[in-house]
Amino acid sequence: MANIFPRWTNLLPLKIAVGAVTVAAGVALAFTYYATPKTLRVGYQPSQPIPFSHKIHVDQLGLDCRYCHSFVEVSGHSNVPTGNTCWNCHQHVQKDSPKLAPLHREMDPNYPGYDGKPIEWVRIHKAPDYVYFNHSAHVNRGVSCQTCHGDIHKMETVYQAEPHSMGWCLDCHRAPEKNLRPLEEVFNFYYDAEKYVATHGKELGVETTKDLGLKLKEQFDVKPKTSCATCHH
Ligand code: HEC
Ligand code: HEC
Ligand code: HEC
Ligand code: HEC
Ligand code: HEC
Repeated sequence: MANIFPRWTNLLPLKIAVGAVTVAAGVALAFTYYATPKTLRVGYQPSQPIPFSHKIHVDQLGLDCRYCHSFVEVSGHSNVPTGNTCWNCHQHVQKDSPKLAPLHREMDPNYPGYDGKPIEWVRIHKAPDYVYFNHSAHVNRGVSCQTCHGDIHKMETVYQAEPHSMGWCLDCHRAPEKNLRPLEEVFNFYYDAEKYVATHGKELGVETTKDLGLKLKEQFDVKPKTSCATCHH
């Protein structure tokens, strides 16, 4: 019987294997390039169905982050509030503001156009599906919202302030002491480490902000991991 397959086909599996590796490397490169450019994500500021202002609600009215993002300390995921939370106030306040039309459509059965559908906020910060992130693990260890989300309390419209890239996560995991606060200061957007040391330094036995960071690291027994499986299950 003549060999129906030419000799070169013997090499086919190897070629396929090499080809697959090359393609995979290409995809990985392209992925790194397109999925992570910092400039694309920092500054991302979509417009929202209601022009909700953190500046008004946090800085002027003095609401705590947890009034609306109520799961952030107890869960991996930080929720965005439901219409009920807004309605607590806005069934009484600014009732006729046209900006609140989507809230009335969700919450107010007497409103023309009422449909009970939740407001569709546009998601801003989003880790890729292959990354595991956990809010409570951070805020209960002295990492502030401000460190990762910037000056939200001044934002009329929320934008992404930090890259949230792998290098950014790792920078802190390698040296968390630079970013740790006493737990009661995690939600304080006017926290000033220098002032804190000036007032509480003596009782804590620390002289500089660096000492304070190291002290807190020890006190919370913080050892953020850098192994791949920490963030990629
Ligand atoms: C009165 C309710 C309320 C309070 C108080 C509040 N937020 Fe929000 N927050 C919202 C709503 C509604 C959204 C979604 C719309 C938007 O992005 O503006 C949001 C969005 C966000 C986002 C972006 C979410 C995303 O899609 O990535 C972050 C981060 C955030 N808030 C942080 C904070 C922090 C930090 C505080 C405290 C300083 C705070 N918020 C206080 C209601 C609130
Ligand atoms: C604790 C009460 C309270 C809660 C909760 C609250 N607001 Fe407000 N909101 C106010 C007050 C008070 C003002 C008016 C501030 C001013 O006029 O300076 C206001 C102003 C606004 C405005 C500006 C209205 C205009 O026409 O200028 C919008 C929009 C708004 N809120 C949306 C929301 C949304 C959306 C939520 C829920 C995520 C929410 N608010 C939750 C009290 C609240
Ligand atoms: C260590 C950094 C870090 C800290 C601290 C942090 N966040 Fe986040 N936050 C993130 C990352 C990363 C995401 C995207 C997570 C994801 O997609 O799973 C996010 C997402 C969010 C979202 C959007 C969630 C959604 O489903 O729409 C909100 C709201 C939020 N954070 C609020 C807060 C608040 C409020 C605090 C402080 C109490 C806080 N974050 C502290 C890093 C942080
Ligand atoms: C500003 C500092 C800081 C940044 C930024 C940061 N982390 Fe962390 N991370 C910590 C600290 C502190 C801990 C707590 C370590 C401990 O308890 O020993 C932690 C813990 C964790 C844990 C362990 C949670 C658990 O359940 O055990 C994961 C997962 C994690 N971080 C993922 C991330 C990811 C993903 C990012 C980037 C999107 C990130 N972190 C950014 C400081 C940071
Ligand atoms: C502290 C959390 C954390 C640790 C530890 C970590 N990663 Fe990542 N990794 C991330 C985040 C967050 C992203 C998403 C980056 C983005 O979206 O910009 C990512 C993305 C990636 C990607 C996609 C390509 C890219 O750069 O976007 C690869 C591949 C990867 N990680 C491999 C690893 C390997 C291998 C290790 C161990 C040496 C590791 N990671 C450890 C958080 C982490």
